[in-house]
Amino acid sequence: MNILILGGGGREHALAWACLQNPKCDKLIVAPGNAGIAQIAECASLDIEDGAAVIGFSEANSIDFIIVGPEAPLAAGVADDLRGAGFSVFGPSKEAARLEASKSFTKEVCDAAKAPTAAWKRFTEAQPALDYVAAEGAPIVVKADGLAAGKGVIVAETVDQAQDAIRDMFGGEFGAAGAEVVIEEFMAGEEASFFVLCDGETALPIGTAQDHKRVGDGDTGPNTGGMGAYSPAPVLTDEIAQMALDEIVKPTLRVMAERGTPYQGVLYAGLMIENGKPRLVEYNVRFGDPECQVLMLRLGGQALDLMQAAAEGRLEGCTVNWADDHAMTVVMAAKGYPGAYAKGTEIKGLEACPEDSKNMVFHAGTRAEGGKVLASGGRVLNVTARGATLAEAAERAYAMVDSIDWPEGFYRSDIGWRALS
Ligand code: AMP
Ligand code: GLY
Repeated sequence: MNILILGGGGREHALAWACLQNPKCDKLIVAPGNAGIAQIAECASLDIEDGAAVIGFSEANSIDFIIVGPEAPLAAGVADDLRGAGFSVFGPSKEAARLEASKSFTKEVCDAAKAPTAAWKRFTEAQPALDYVAAEGAPIVVKADGLAAGKGVIVAETVDQAQDAIRDMFGGEFGAAGAEVVIEEFMAGEEASFFVLCDGETALPIGTAQDHKRVGDGDTGPNTGGMGAYSPAPVLTDEIAQMALDEIVKPTLRVMAERGTPYQGVLYAGLMIENGKPRLVEYNVRFGDPECQVLMLRLGGQALDLMQAAAEGRLEGCTVNWADDHAMTVVMAAKGYPGAYAKGTEIKGLEACPEDSKNMVFHAGTRAEGGKVLASGGRVLNVTARGATLAEAAERAYAMVDSIDWPEGFYRSDIGWRALS
């Protein structure tokens, strides 16, 4: 089977690695890929948000199966275009991808599905929104409706903060994404991520994870795309995961099917857990990054079979073979991230890191130049390991971090603290 993966981050490196563990994979191309992916697969430069270009490329390269990594091509309808041209594709349609692309759409679906989530209201003008938060009080959560690269959510501790956020959003700070604003009840609790493969009808859970959004040790400092993750998430017990599946994910799939926009792909449910009960914070229509890295290390080659079954409507009766293990990924980022940071600094010592079924350094933002690996993004490496316990996985991951020679990089030294303490 010839496989094309769209994307070029740590998530796509992990997806590529998992596909290569499966003997079905004959040829693997990743577009655009990165320096780490280039060591295991062919990389191609391609505009992955241009459906016609991806179709042309897939035809020219006899591609049998396409995995869409990031949300942007999904929101642009690239999966629809490819399916229209007869390709087997893992990833939802443009309409179904609205579960990530529009906060108010997700809330409407949750209401129709009677899925537990925060109470909410939608606003298209500033003044009624300002009045609403004044009446509701704080804490309260203000969200730009559209895709805002993870920055469109303000958890406001005071009414003033909430009103500033509302003025910023209607003032155009998030462009079109902020033309509508959703204001939500603040939910207390512990967050965890639940990953479920869907084929339009059937839902198959493939794992849980927790990430660390704040840049600094002790969960301090500004928010990032995620500084590390681990799987499984102890807070998502089997019982709570079952509740999330029965009360949130399955009813959502039913509503999506009834709307004529069945959901196919991975549904990433961000959950808030309080008093033993899960509520939905948000959906993403793709694997989490860096959560995918820990999931793939644990799943290995079966991930390809499962993604293919999802794409082809064959999930019913599929099972996941779980080892009773744990995985952790530590993100190494360029100093300054999530603010301004230098690009092009050299990373050494990578060749000393083991690469096997227990240890993988996935590249998130690197490029190769003259035999050197250079940092090309904010989050640069995802140093990932597996173990019988989370402590063992952490020990392996941090041993690799220590052997990487990159003075311009930094990392958090406490990934997994909640689960390890
Ligand atoms: P989202 O992009 O919707 O996941 O929001 C980003 C982060 O904001 C989440 O991961 C939560 O930590 C937080 N958040 C979002 N909505 C709420 C809510 N209603 N209550 C508490 N925290 C929230
Ligand atoms: N790590 C969070 C995300 O992928 O959205």
